[in-house]
Amino acid sequence: MSGCRICGGVVEEFLDLGPQPLPDAFLSPDDPAGLAAEFFHRLAVGRCGTCTVVQLTDEIPREQVFHHDYPYRSASGSAAMREHFTRTALGFVETELSTADPFFVEIGCNDGTLLRTVAESGIRHLGFEPSGGVAKIARERGVRVRTEFFEESTAAAVREAEGPADMIYSSDTISQIPYTASLLRGVDALLSPGGVFVFEDPYLRDMVEKTSFDQICNERFYLFSVRSVQAMAERFGFELVDAVQLPTYGGGLRYTLARAGARRPAPSVARLLAQEVAQGLAESAGLQRFASSVTGIRDDLVGLLRSLREDGRTVVGYGATAKSATVTNFCGIGPDLVPYVCDTTPAKQHLLTPGMHIPVKPPAAFSDPYPDYALLFAWNHAEEIMAKEQQFREAGGRWIVYVPEVRVI
Ligand code: SAM
Ligand code: TMP
Ligand code: ZN
Repeated sequence: MSGCRICGGVVEEFLDLGPQPLPDAFLSPDDPAGLAAEFFHRLAVGRCGTCTVVQLTDEIPREQVFHHDYPYRSASGSAAMREHFTRTALGFVETELSTADPFFVEIGCNDGTLLRTVAESGIRHLGFEPSGGVAKIARERGVRVRTEFFEESTAAAVREAEGPADMIYSSDTISQIPYTASLLRGVDALLSPGGVFVFEDPYLRDMVEKTSFDQICNERFYLFSVRSVQAMAERFGFELVDAVQLPTYGGGLRYTLARAGARRPAPSVARLLAQEVAQGLAESAGLQRFASSVTGIRDDLVGLLRSLREDGRTVVGYGATAKSATVTNFCGIGPDLVPYVCDTTPAKQHLLTPGMHIPVKPPAAFSDPYPDYALLFAWNHAEEIMAKEQQFREAGGRWIVYVPEVRVI
């Protein structure tokens, strides 16, 4: 195993989720060559003994993950997430972007869900989005996009051509970028002296507390904590000046980095850090306990699905999430236990899920007829989905959830 991708320290592995496909690499049932060429990587996760950042032990070339047909769409059918992005953008417009002629850059703008609000506010902006298909959708929404990876060289080119950015923002993307040194040197090149780099990602603390091991997948390299991001920031001349917990991403955190000494850190940084230390988050013992809880969830979930099958009950998956690839492949859940999954994302429909090859159907299939049970893979949208699917409950249907434990509700 190679050293920590951030500081070079020794990475201690604590969980092996076995051979796993890319979680967004859906397959066509009519393409035998594509099915035969499907590739798997060992998905294991460890903790750096020096800077404590939790990271995958193996790195996948980025072009294999983020390419023209990358299907993930921001807000993916979720009204709550669309609202989150609009509110977030308007919040920035009223604060960091309220100066004269500000310049806003987003890393991983995807289909422009957040950036369009910034653009509509008349603010100079630019998105970096290497996945061509979603970048095109963003452009059609009136957003300026460079179809390339944000890194040191591309960030420097933008600084040269367009001047410094007052704010660089990123949602659910920085944890997917293993090349941290190039990323942060790029931020250093592009950010104005008083500017901020704000990013939000799933929070290690939520993952450990909820045993939501499906946050781990071949697309996400890091699981950040306040402690590890603080160490990362300091290493590259920045300072963590704010940390705000978010209900999104199944439990996330918004980090604000500024140049060292440029801003006074908010009290939340020290408060969250103290909580992490008191809790022993990212200590080996806690992560080992997390790993054994993961095995318990697998045994409970597979046991439940098998007994429902023996009783002749029908079970359908709800949400062909990236997270569901980890769960189905780790647990060995295929079409024999879950015959199909419903999902609102057009680019996933009529395809097969990565690895376990469960057919993906449009949402209309869910009620035609309703199954006895729905396995809620999109558990991070539970409130919205359960409200939308009240008729399923009224028809006698039950939800199966596996976060924080396997339950039928
Ligand atoms: N920000 C969106 C959201 O929160 O819904 C999209 C998140 S998606 C999980 C991650 C996005 O980051 C993908 O659209 C991917 O193409 C993009 N991405 C990956 N590496 C990147 C990089 N180095 N620079 C810019 N975008 C990147
Ligand atoms: P996410 O957890 O990464 O946001 O992905 C959510 C997935 O679940 C995405 O593929 C769309 C799907 N989904 C539905 O099928 N129905 C819904 O009501 C919601 C909110 C999401
Ligand atoms: Zn490290």
